Amino acid sequence: MVTNMSDNGSFALAVIGAGGISNAHSAAAKDSGGSVRIAAVADSNLEAAAKLAGQHDAKAFGTIDALFAAIDAGGVAVDGVVLCTPPTVRVEPIREALQRGIAVLAEKPLALNPEDAARIVEIADAHPNTLFGIAYCHRFAPPIAEMKRLVESGKIGRLTRFENAFAFHHPPMAERWMSDPAVSGGGSFIDTGCHSLDLFRHLVGPAEVVGSVYDTEWEGRGESSATVLVKASEGSHAGVAGVILAGWMEPERFTVALIGTNGALHYDYMKPTELVYRPGIGDAEIITVESHEVRFSRQLVHFAKAARGEAPRGVLADARDGLGAAEAVDNAARASKVI
Ligand SMILES: NC(=O)c1ccc[n+]([C@@H]2O[C@H](COP(=O)([O-])OP(=O)(O)OC[C@H]3O[C@@H](n4cnc5c(N)ncnc54)[C@H](O)[C@@H]3O)[C@@H](O)[C@H]2O)c1
Repeated sequence: MVTNMSDNGSFALAVIGAGGISNAHSAAAKDSGGSVRIAAVADSNLEAAAKLAGQHDAKAFGTIDALFAAIDAGGVAVDGVVLCTPPTVRVEPIREALQRGIAVLAEKPLALNPEDAARIVEIADAHPNTLFGIAYCHRFAPPIAEMKRLVESGKIGRLTRFENAFAFHHPPMAERWMSDPAVSGGGSFIDTGCHSLDLFRHLVGPAEVVGSVYDTEWEGRGESSATVLVKASEGSHAGVAGVILAGWMEPERFTVALIGTNGALHYDYMKPTELVYRPGIGDAEIITVESHEVRFSRQLVHFAKAARGEAPRGVLADARDGLGAAEAVDNAARASKVI
């Protein structure tokens, strides 16, 4: 439920954290045809906040507290927040927003660790009338929706395996907060592996970690590569296996595949409009799909509609989905240390 509906009918968004990913949400707001507009930006780097705010005729704030103080004073009206800070800065801004009836879309991963994720579940549960969602944007990629539909239609027979690689070559990660476990919660597995775990949850079921092997290129930093085996712990696909590959020091691969007893579906993000169906025997067929590139726009518009009660929350990941991924990330790290 939204309490601070803006005057002109558009959904007024505050962006907290004006770094890299805020650009995707900024572009999504611009693409929304006026249904979502950025009204405020807060970043501890005021220059970064001002730069993004300047692109949207929005107000800039140098702290999160200053943003909420302005909201309380009526200086800016905000219907929803998109939280784009590192995972250390999650619990309090989520609490501050939800207790004011302001909907929250929190970037992934939900939290630094399962303990913080559980705190966020409690906060979200305490405010059931205000939308809380996690920006697991791949759920909004049209090819993923089509894969889900085709699996449920029986197109590939009985589902037996999920295979997913989100990997790329980016040595500067050695110096960025993403590889500092105190800020990020881990290394490449919490970074892109949390997306993979959420995709597994969305397409197959909750992931139970069976085993993992991590490789660490940089001393004192989080893992630069992770190979993780999971299986679905419950649901109609219980027992189905997942192989998840995450890496920062390897050739770029962004692929998702679902394998069944009667065929397979394979999507390569580098061939954005082609979903490949391969029957058990015979020639592959290309199914034309809308590109994954629309995922941030679809996600933001859906978030705004759902926050206003104009759409069901639908595929938007909730706090429990985020806790599930946080627990699996933690279990994968432990399993890697045991092996
Ligand atoms: N959905 C996706 O595909 C996707 C892609 C990239 C990043 N992300 C996630 O988005 C989040 C942000 O990543 P990024 O790449 O934009 O990082 P970034 O470092 O580029 O930006 C983070 C911003 O947060 C600001 N910040 C940090 N602490 C703050 C505080 N206490 N108060 C106000 N501002 C603060 C920083 O100054 C910075 O501008 C991460 O959780 C990351 O995993 C998601």
